[in-house]
Amino acid sequence: MKKITIAIDGFSSTGKSTLAKQLAKHLGYVYVDTGAMYRAVTVFAMKHNYISEDHLDKKKLVDSMPEVHLHFEFNPELGFAEMFLNGKNVETEIRTLEVSRLVSKIAEISEVRSRLVEQQQKMGKNKAVVMDGRDIGTVVFPHAELKIFMTASPHTRAQRRYDELLELGQQVTFQDVLQNVNERDYMDTHREDSPLVKASDAVELDNSGLTKKEQFQLVLSLVTERV
Ligand code: C5P
Repeated sequence: MKKITIAIDGFSSTGKSTLAKQLAKHLGYVYVDTGAMYRAVTVFAMKHNYISEDHLDKKKLVDSMPEVHLHFEFNPELGFAEMFLNGKNVETEIRTLEVSRLVSKIAEISEVRSRLVEQQQKMGKNKAVVMDGRDIGTVVFPHAELKIFMTASPHTRAQRRYDELLELGQQVTFQDVLQNVNERDYMDTHREDSPLVKASDAVELDNSGLTKKEQFQLVLSLVTERV
């Protein structure tokens, strides 16, 4: 069977990673969560005090990007790859609401984007990859055989994210999560470099009213048409 590249883009908490993981497992493809990479750079910047709620030292961060080494390691117990920053597993750290609040500021920086995009293109160069993010179908793999653009209402997405954070044991309010979803939508769609936009040849999928199973079957049929 032909190996293809599957690009999944969309707003935050639309369930991109759930779908991407299901597809990768089913097809025996590699799954790459590019949001985790932007989140890991954010954790690096926070640790070095290059970023906080009210300040960003862009120059220092850009100058130290050569010291940022990111890699994924497959965890067979979880069934997906975890994010490592300079050799340390940061999978839990990158998922906090604090990181979610700061990550879009980091993702605006072109020098950060170009480095991560280069690494993503290397990871997907042999195809057989499912990659999710904001610019996969437009910038990272503009020739991907299948592009999905996922949407759902902000309320639905905030509820999903809120449930996930509670499950991770984090103390957050629904209002804070909803506000973060709206703010990230705004920043991700309005930044100058690689804003979140649906690629002209992407299939739009609003999953507000779909179960995970229905969504998976639908996308699988699109894959079958292309392999
Ligand atoms: O996918 P996730 O919500 O974890 O992504 C976190 C943030 O990283 C997004 O809100 C966006 O600002 C940034 N991002 C990006 N480009 C990608 C993936 C994520 O700008 N390809």
